[in-house]
Amino acid sequence: MSNTQPHEEHESPIKTPKQLIVTVVLSFVLPIIIIILLVKLVTTGDQVGAGSDILGPEATQKRIAPVAKLDLVDASGPKVFKTGEQVYTAVCAGCHIAGAAGAPKFADAAAWSAPIATGLQSMIASVIKGKGAMPAKGGNPALDDFEIARAVVYMANAAGGKFAEPAEPKPAEAAAPAATAPAMVPAVAPAATAPKAPAVVAAAPAAAPATNDVGEKLYKQACAACHIAGVAGAPKFGDKAAWAPRIATGMDALVAAVVAGKGIMPAKGGAAGASEADLRAATQYMVDAAK
Ligand code: HEC
Ligand code: HEC
Repeated sequence: MSNTQPHEEHESPIKTPKQLIVTVVLSFVLPIIIIILLVKLVTTGDQVGAGSDILGPEATQKRIAPVAKLDLVDASGPKVFKTGEQVYTAVCAGCHIAGAAGAPKFADAAAWSAPIATGLQSMIASVIKGKGAMPAKGGNPALDDFEIARAVVYMANAAGGKFAEPAEPKPAEAAAPAATAPAMVPAVAPAATAPKAPAVVAAAPAAAPATNDVGEKLYKQACAACHIAGVAGAPKFGDKAAWAPRIATGMDALVAAVVAGKGIMPAKGGAAGASEADLRAATQYMVDAAK
C-alpha cells in the first residue's frame, strides 16, 4: 500500500527515459523560443513606430493629395502648373546642374549671390527674356511665366535665397489688361505680385473658352445641327435678335425648355444621354454667344 500509493499520487507524465529527455530539452528550448519571439515582437514594434509609412510625410501627402488637387483646380481652372522643382528638373537642370556655359550652378551660393542680389523680379525677367547663353524661358517657350517664377524661386532658394513661392495666378487675373509685362522688371514688392503680370500672357487665351468646355462640346455634338444655321425655326447661334426674347425668359426657363423639348426641338435637344447640368452648360454657351 504505502509502496504503491505515493507512486501513483506523484505519477507524472514522465514515464520513460525518452520522455525525460524530451522534457529536459523542452524546458531549455521553450524559454529560448519565447525569448526570441518576444525580441522579435519588440523589434517589429520598433520598426512600425520609427519607419512607418502609415504616419510618414509621404503617406500624409497621399492622404491630403485629393484635397490639394481640388484646391489647385478651383484656383486655376483646367491648367495645372508644374512645381519649381519639376520645371527645374525637366528644363533648367540641363545647364544649371553642372554650371554649363557660365550658368550659375545649382545650390552654389557663391555663383548665385549676384543674381539673387538683383532680386526675384529681375531674375524672372532674365529667364523669360533669356540672358547670355541662356535662351528665353530656358529654351522651353511652352512654360507658363508662373512656372518660370516657381523654378527661379526653387533654384535661388537652393543657393541660399529666401524667396516666397509666388501665389498661383487665378483665371480672373488673367483677364486683366496685358500691358503689364515691362512693369514687372522694376517691381518693388517681392514674390506675391510676381506671377500676376506674366500670367496674363499665357493664361488669357486659355481662360475664356476653358470656362465652358462642357457646354461647347455638347453644343457642337448635339445642338449645332439645328442651331448653327437656324434650322426649322431654331434660334440661330450667335444671332442676338433671335435670342434676346428667349434670354429674357431666364436661364431656368430656357433649360427647362431644352430638357422637355419645345416645338420641333426634341427633349434634351436630342441628346438623350446628357445630364441636366450638361444641357445647362450648352444652353449657357449658346446664350453667352448671343449676348
Ligand atoms: C542652355 C542652358 C540654360 C538653360 C536650359 C537654363 N539656363 Fe538659366 N542660365 C544659363 C546661363 C548661361 C546663365 C548666366 C547668364 C549670364 O549671366 O550671362 C543663366 C542664368 C540664370 C539665372 C540668373 C539670371 C540673372 O538675372 O542673372 C536664373 C535665375 C536662371 N538662369 C534660371 C533658369 C531657369 C529657371 C531655367 C529653366 C526654366 C534655366 N535657367 C534654364 C543657362 C541656362
Ligand atoms: C432638331 C433640331 C434641334 C436640336 C438638335 C436642338 N434644338 Fe434647341 N431649338 C430648336 C428649335 C426649333 C427651337 C425653337 C423652339 C420654339 O421656340 O418653338 C429651339 C430652341 C432652343 C432654345 C430656346 C428655348 C426657349 O425657351 O425659347 C434653347 C435654349 C435651345 N434650343 C437649346 C438647345 C440645346 C442646348 C440643344 C442641344 C443639347 C438644342 N437646343 C438642340 C431646335 C433644335
